[in-house]
Amino acid sequence: MASVPALQLTGLTKRYDGGFLALDGFDLTVPDGEFFGLLGPNGAGKTTLISAVCNLIRVTAGEIRVFGHPHTSREARRLIGLAEQDVNLDRFLDVEETLLFHGGYYGMSRAHARRRAREMMDVFDLRAKAGVRAPALSGGMRRRLLLARALMHEPRLVILDEPTAGVDFELRIELWRYIRRLHGQGTTILLTTHYLEEAEELCRDIALIRDGRLLARDTADALRRRFDAATLTEVYMKAMNAA
Ligand SMILES: Nc1ncnc2c1ncn2[C@@H]1O[C@H](COP(=O)(O)OP(=O)(O)OP(=O)(O)O)[C@@H](O)[C@H]1O
Ligand SMILES: [Mg+2]
Repeated sequence: MASVPALQLTGLTKRYDGGFLALDGFDLTVPDGEFFGLLGPNGAGKTTLISAVCNLIRVTAGEIRVFGHPHTSREARRLIGLAEQDVNLDRFLDVEETLLFHGGYYGMSRAHARRRAREMMDVFDLRAKAGVRAPALSGGMRRRLLLARALMHEPRLVILDEPTAGVDFELRIELWRYIRRLHGQGTTILLTTHYLEEAEELCRDIALIRDGRLLARDTADALRRRFDAATLTEVYMKAMNAA
């Protein structure tokens, strides 16, 4: 029996106050365990889609299920870990507090949260900055903390909205390695990026979107075949030009 999809969107439509139609009847299924890339130009609707899934904005129409649960449910919230495009850290919390507070929001016991926070600080090389507040971290460190926080409660679906924007080469490689390991452990990953070589490297399954609509969706291999392209960059150019 096929397992319940990590994410199922049916007719997802978002019209912002003021009338702008950012998502137009979007259908999308992300299978459990997939490494999924959501690609498209600025303003395509990627962050809107993610914000809808995470119940941060109200959808206009349609349905969202997260591992079979309505996206507005506590279960769905518990199952998702989100690293947003905007680095939204609390400037008054230090690194360790940021992680511990997040654990608290997700109902982790104090001891469990402490353990997990230490683990995350080790993984993301933040141990030396445990007592440092967000504004005193470097940009790359803030990105790492954002990711560490998203992973604190061991979500089954990790959503990363441009996790490597403005990140140096070494950290990018390091993040790739870590995200790959997570995926290897069975975590479903949904990633957006403007670095097509990053998508090429990481994502097995890809959706190309523009103007709130799905242009193409398939495995990276099948897309390359369909668009008669050698690389994902070429697929992207062809798909966007044809649209
Ligand atoms: N709060 C809002 N009110 C009105 N329009 C909005 C709002 N947020 C986003 N939009 C519009 O919705 C469209 C999609 O924006 P969104 O942030 O989802 O794009 P994106 O694909 O994430 O782009 P980027 O690659 O630049 O991050 C844009 O035209 C944007 O101006
Ligand atoms: Mg965005």
